[in-house]
Amino acid sequence: MKLSNAKFYKSVYKYEECPRLQQPEVAFSGRSNVGKSSLINRITKNKKLARTSNTPGRTQSLNYYNIDDKFYLVDLPGYGFANVPKKVKDDWSELIDSYLNYRENLIGIVQIIDARHKPSKEDKMMVEWLKASGLSFLIAATKVDKISNNKRAQQKKVIFKELALDKNDNFTFFSAQTGEGSKDIYNYLESLLQL
Ligand code: GTP
Ligand code: MG
Repeated sequence: MKLSNAKFYKSVYKYEECPRLQQPEVAFSGRSNVGKSSLINRITKNKKLARTSNTPGRTQSLNYYNIDDKFYLVDLPGYGFANVPKKVKDDWSELIDSYLNYRENLIGIVQIIDARHKPSKEDKMMVEWLKASGLSFLIAATKVDKISNNKRAQQKKVIFKELALDKNDNFTFFSAQTGEGSKDIYNYLESLLQL
């Protein structure tokens, strides 16, 4: 799987603005500032593709990236960021909600969580929704470069317990800094696209 030909295609602020496309799309979801855009940049080997930031809530639209005209990666706005006006928050949740529930091109989700922490209430809700929806998903626990090898095994247990995952669920640790886990993400995308 080669993603190095990724090109920015479109930002979508309202569900109705989603493009009419033939190709399937895979979306990247997770709480604000967890590292969604950094993960996309790492796997596409393009540091400038998706804008990353220390300021949570940077990505406020669905951002479409075209991969060789074969499929699209979609960077979703992060959830769980308290420090924004209610109106903005409502618009975001409406956008994500419609996208997740109605978008026919959507074939899978890479659900990104923070490897260092217990999954948040929103993470749990998201994973519950994913399981109920029947949509394919991969959990990527990112920023793993920030924890020790000992802590890793412990965190994996916590994550599996909190999100009620079992060995049949797709899970990987990831680091945008070291690239660890990229291969698991490529394999996941490959398995999805061969369906
Ligand atoms: P929003 O668009 O605001 O929802 O954020 P996001 O989820 O796209 O996060 P983003 O990729 O902008 O990263 C947020 C911060 O975390 C940045 O300062 C990144 O440099 C940092 N970061 C992201 N991934 C990693 C990682 O794997 N390791 C480390 N050490 N830092 C990371
Ligand atoms: Mg982002």
